[in-house]
Amino acid sequence: MSRARARWPARSSPFDHTKPAERTVAETVAKCLGRMSIERKVGQMIQAEIANVTPADVGQFGLGSVLNGGGSSPGGYKRASVEDWLALADAHYDASVAAAEPGSAVPSLWGTDAVHGHSNVYGATVFPHNIGLGAAGDADLVAAIARATASEVSATGIDWTFAPTLAVVRDDRWGRSYEGYAEHPDVVREFAGRMIRGLQGAPGDDDFLSPGRVLATSKHFVGEGQTTGGRDQGDAACSEEVLRDVHAAGHLAAIDAGALTVMAAYNSWLGNRVHGSHYLLTEVLKGALGFGGFVVSDWNGYQHVADDHGEAIALTVKAGVDMLMVGEDWPRAYHDLLQQVRTGAVPRERIDDAVTRILRVKARAGKFRRGRPSTRAGNADIVGTGAHRELARRAVRQSLVLLKNDGLLPLPRNASVLVAGDAAHNIGKQCGGWTLTWQGTGNDNEDFPNGTSIYEGIAQVVADGGAAVLRPDGAWDDAEPDVAIVVFGEEPYAEGDGDRHHLSHSADNAEPLAILRRLKARGIPTVSVFVTGRPMWVNPELNASDAFVVAWLPGTEGAGIADVIFRGVDGNAAYDFSGRLTFSWPRDPLQTPLNVGDPGYEPLYPYGFGLRYGDAPLPAPRLDEADPARDMPTPSALPRTNTTYPR
Ligand code: BGC
Ligand code: BGC
Repeated sequence: MSRARARWPARSSPFDHTKPAERTVAETVAKCLGRMSIERKVGQMIQAEIANVTPADVGQFGLGSVLNGGGSSPGGYKRASVEDWLALADAHYDASVAAAEPGSAVPSLWGTDAVHGHSNVYGATVFPHNIGLGAAGDADLVAAIARATASEVSATGIDWTFAPTLAVVRDDRWGRSYEGYAEHPDVVREFAGRMIRGLQGAPGDDDFLSPGRVLATSKHFVGEGQTTGGRDQGDAACSEEVLRDVHAAGHLAAIDAGALTVMAAYNSWLGNRVHGSHYLLTEVLKGALGFGGFVVSDWNGYQHVADDHGEAIALTVKAGVDMLMVGEDWPRAYHDLLQQVRTGAVPRERIDDAVTRILRVKARAGKFRRGRPSTRAGNADIVGTGAHRELARRAVRQSLVLLKNDGLLPLPRNASVLVAGDAAHNIGKQCGGWTLTWQGTGNDNEDFPNGTSIYEGIAQVVADGGAAVLRPDGAWDDAEPDVAIVVFGEEPYAEGDGDRHHLSHSADNAEPLAILRRLKARGIPTVSVFVTGRPMWVNPELNASDAFVVAWLPGTEGAGIADVIFRGVDGNAAYDFSGRLTFSWPRDPLQTPLNVGDPGYEPLYPYGFGLRYGDAPLPAPRLDEADPARDMPTPSALPRTNTTYPR
């Protein structure tokens, strides 16, 4: 028995090869493959970015796929309409099936990062990032969100989402912490299958990948949450057992649930890039685990495998990557791959295997028989529809974690409320990264025509009897408010741009703490609402607050916060807090990695913590405010790692 099979648990395919549907898939694939030239086969293995490729290119080269990267949209226009997206999807489809060689036409696939709703699209419902869903702890909610997201993605003609991220996050300095559900594999394992089935449907069911469903991606395989120092794209220096039992947990569940694509991870394992690892991608994933779909590289990920471009491509494809996601220069990737096949550096059998896998996924997704994207897109109004926004608002309510409450919450609706902090009326900030732009920066409230800021949610609630006044800087000249709500937190970021050296919030942003302290000095009761992509050390802010709520990155439905922190019309709490930490909360800015089960585990708030209204009030001891991180480099001083990376 091979090493991989001896160490990794065997899975049985969720697709029943004896069923007529699967037999049809196999026949379609075999027939098509037999008619394809080597050029067309290589074309299937290339995924180009919509800003750098035309539908005519897709047709001419038989490209297998296109993507829109974070912040990329039709015509480069951030506020492109659903009709604009659909028209481009149709144009790509039409060009791909009008291919030159008869019988070898293969519809192209379009993939997008719909990682918290269809978050690249103007007007779409933006759900809380995964860290908030982890706190909500409700697998049915996750499944419903996946279903809603799939229908919004479908409505724009897009076939495939690069989600879910199944990282098990072990060091919160990592800039992608918020993309993970938890630091513990159990939650990730449980949610993975529900998310995959919500997006794709269940294998064997009639509605599997039917209109309104989309292909899912199990990403990123594997080990990205383990990198040393939490560095994005860094090295996971762990045993194979840790890789398997902790970091692969979600991927195993995703494969069992029928995930049809897997994205290779940027990180290395014990010094070797996953993109170049035949052991992990072929022997483990496709061999021992029996994964029958295709492996897509991450954005330019193959470029990290060797210095020479052609060699990097050959090593990546031989390792088991079936489709290359090319950020910019797809013609170069296409020609270099073709060249590597012609010289024999990449065996033709490997190409046939890769293309078989790609065609099989397309056949299972109905691409060969369902026609133009617009014919199966459904109603454009589903994008940002009221029912989806209600679902997102519920997700926000469930995701909130109450860390401190000296009895101030829930608030009466007839209060006069000062709403302060720069996240109070800032939908872009409450959505975080991977929202309309890659980093989530540069968005204003008008970019979210269907969204509600946290302040707007508060203002709606106090409308009967009370008053809410928005003063981001916390300055207030009128009569003393009954209560202040200060909404603050991290600026949006994505990937390596969010990497940090420490977890102190006030070391980099002292303004919210100054506001809280001014309010406290005036004796105004204060609620903190913390908008964040990870647990951070906020002891000074906790000391200066009477109640402290972690809102994570809630997305467009900011009203979910007022739903919980205010009493209902009858005077009782309308909703209790129900969120629980799935990431341990640090008692020190440098206390990371910090994970449940660690020897000597001593967090400020443990994994699973979260107060309820019914809880007996805890005496709130004054927390230590000494901050060793104050003189450490700011995150912006960290070198960028995303585009090039030393091997
Ligand atoms: C990211 C893409 C993004 C692009 C923007 C890449 O590194 O992975 O998703 O669209 O940068 O420049
Ligand atoms: C990210 C992926 C993403 C891809 C496409 C990469 O930089 O790591 O998660 O799917 O870009 O935007």
